Amino acid sequence: MSAPCLLLDDVTRVHGDGPTAVPALSGVSLSVHPGELVAVMGPSGSGKSTLLNLAGGLDRATSGRVVIEGQDVGALGSRALAELRRRHVGFVFQDYNLIPALTAAENVALPLELDGQRVRDARRAAVQSLELMGLGELVDRYPDQMSGGQQQRVAFARALVGGRRLVLADEPTGALDTHTGEEVLRVLRERCDAGTAGLLVTHEARHAAWADRVVFLRDGVVVDTTGDPSDAEDLLETEPVR
Ligand SMILES: Nc1ncnc2c1ncn2[C@@H]1O[C@H](COP(=O)(O)OP(=O)(O)OP(=O)(O)O)[C@@H](O)[C@H]1O
Ligand SMILES: [Mg+2]
Repeated sequence: MSAPCLLLDDVTRVHGDGPTAVPALSGVSLSVHPGELVAVMGPSGSGKSTLLNLAGGLDRATSGRVVIEGQDVGALGSRALAELRRRHVGFVFQDYNLIPALTAAENVALPLELDGQRVRDARRAAVQSLELMGLGELVDRYPDQMSGGQQQRVAFARALVGGRRLVLADEPTGALDTHTGEEVLRVLRERCDAGTAGLLVTHEARHAAWADRVVFLRDGVVVDTTGDPSDAEDLLETEPVR
């Protein structure tokens, strides 16, 4: 099998210290290979966002190892880590996080320009990425001229532009209606089929069904992993769904 895009080895994250310390994640190990989409499920406060932030190098582990595209995050200084994130990791958040004053193409081109690409080259790559998301007609629209689903697809286009192979999505369908949510996940699934590695936080079994595997967290610990996402429904029946 190919090398994983993402590897977590016995990762622990404790927030704060002393008597107020909160162990948000304890001894979590996980790998995601190119072409794989892994769903992360669990009750509120179980550590899903903590896991995603560590997986993308937005946060550092208290102990254990996080390796992104072969680079050990713990060994990198903050500048090298920022560069690793920009080159290799795409984030998609629940509320899109697009810049309102920039068009779709400008939003998608921004990470490339920050990385030193020429404006014209960055725009070409941005338009291509938007076309892959079915937004070729909307590249010059501003976020407030697009539907929620279209904005979320712009966010995915930005996450995947420039050949980044690791996409991390934290409840990316939260603000979307059912139909649009499914549409966005189908696009993510297609990108993973084309070789991207994806980690998707969701609290809906229906959405986890798009994944190859589901990892269940409870109180910061992986309590179950299933190779068959359709089992998610049964396992969740014992969970306090929020
Ligand atoms: N910056 C922080 N400082 C202190 N505690 C934190 C911090 N971030 C998260 N926590 C705690 O860590 C635990 C895990 O939080 P996390 O946000 O990862 O949960 P989650 O599974 O994403 O929840 P939700 O489904 O509500 O988004 C919780 O107990 C939370 O209160
Ligand atoms: Mg969260």
